[in-house]
Amino acid sequence: MILVTGGAGFIGSNFVLDWLAQSDESVINLDKLTYAGNLENLASMAGNPGHRFVKGDIADLDLVSQLLAANRPRAVINFAAESHVDRSIHGPEDFIQTNIVGTFHLLEAVRAYWNALDETDQAAFRLLHVSTDEVYGSLQAGEPAFREDRRYEPNSPYSASKAASDHLVRAYHHTYDLPVLTTNCSNNYGPYHFPEKLIPLVIHNALAGQPLPIYGDGQQIRDWLYVKDHCSAIRRVLEAGRAGETYNIGGCNEKPNLEVVHTLCALLDELKPRADGKPYREQITYVKDRPGHDRRYAIDAAKIAHELGWTPAETFASGMRKTVQWYLANQAWVHNVTSGAYRDWVGKHYGNGR
Ligand code: NAD
Ligand code: DAU
Repeated sequence: MILVTGGAGFIGSNFVLDWLAQSDESVINLDKLTYAGNLENLASMAGNPGHRFVKGDIADLDLVSQLLAANRPRAVINFAAESHVDRSIHGPEDFIQTNIVGTFHLLEAVRAYWNALDETDQAAFRLLHVSTDEVYGSLQAGEPAFREDRRYEPNSPYSASKAASDHLVRAYHHTYDLPVLTTNCSNNYGPYHFPEKLIPLVIHNALAGQPLPIYGDGQQIRDWLYVKDHCSAIRRVLEAGRAGETYNIGGCNEKPNLEVVHTLCALLDELKPRADGKPYREQITYVKDRPGHDRRYAIDAAKIAHELGWTPAETFASGMRKTVQWYLANQAWVHNVTSGAYRDWVGKHYGNGR
């Protein structure tokens, strides 16, 4: 079996659902259920003996140690993190606690567990740490995309905390021989994406008749990857990646934010036209820029392509269409996650002149 952390969040829940659809190997899913964790994402797993959910914190050394000892997983995949850049700007503390201290405690628990395994199980074991392209900082126009040997230059409290966690993971391999793998991925999108992030926020606001907030000039570039492609890349790295290596994962889909929002508006115009017949792009509103906003990210995914034979299956057009269709078909999910505390966040972040 495998232990997944953060498996009730956006990418983690997609990973668990895909894993159990393709494998008989069971999953223990450890998640703290912060505002971003949602058991509704895993509703289709109810009654599936291959999935066991445990509510808990990766920073809880005793709990993680007990789970490892009792279940003897052959791999741990760490998705658990605070993941939203804007929240890290409003309040970095949780990011330091989970992304740095939490990863440290997870590493300590895994190191003790791995040390006690026999030689065969030690050789087969992997800890896969899921990280981000944001650790590399911001690219200028025309600069080559991020390769694995790119210097780390994180610019936000979020990316700095992820960079710190990557360094700890690297050090546990170098110092203790722990068989780790690190993946650095670009922006994901797809089902179960929490509507604080650009793509689901725009779909939600468009349908609700609310402004579509574009930070600054909207020309910041992200490299978009459909979440199911990220999940297939992680499965491939787990299967065949070399211990101690890092693998960059990207979609080869560099798009300025404004173009992303225009694409969403056009899809909604087609699939769910406004009652007044006007185009959704009329709801676009320029708002104050994100402090320290990184201008451009782009991933060079040549290593994972050449070494492990992985390439994304979805194009930007096919992935965006599937995503908009998913949100239109799952308005009850959107309704549930946007009630309560979500409104406090939107009021705090976009209210008062934003
Ligand atoms: P998310 O915010 O949607 O989900 C994070 C999950 O982790 C939630 O279920 C939350 O409850 C859980 N969690 C938070 N703190 C925890 C703790 N201390 N112990 C246990 N569980 C905890 O995030 P996501 O977008 O699914 O991202 C997952 C991972 O992938 C993160 O490590 C993130 O840095 C990385 N990543 C995300 C993207 C992206 O575009 N979303 C891209 C590259 C890398
Ligand atoms: O690059 C990978 C990263 O992608 C992950 O590590 C993060 O966990 C994930 O949240 C994401 O970070 P971004 O900051 O790129 O994603 P976000 O959806 O918040 O913003 C995407 C772009 O859109 C960014 O340039 C900011 C802009 N934006 C975002 C919001 C929420 C807007 O213009 N308006 C908005 O309201």
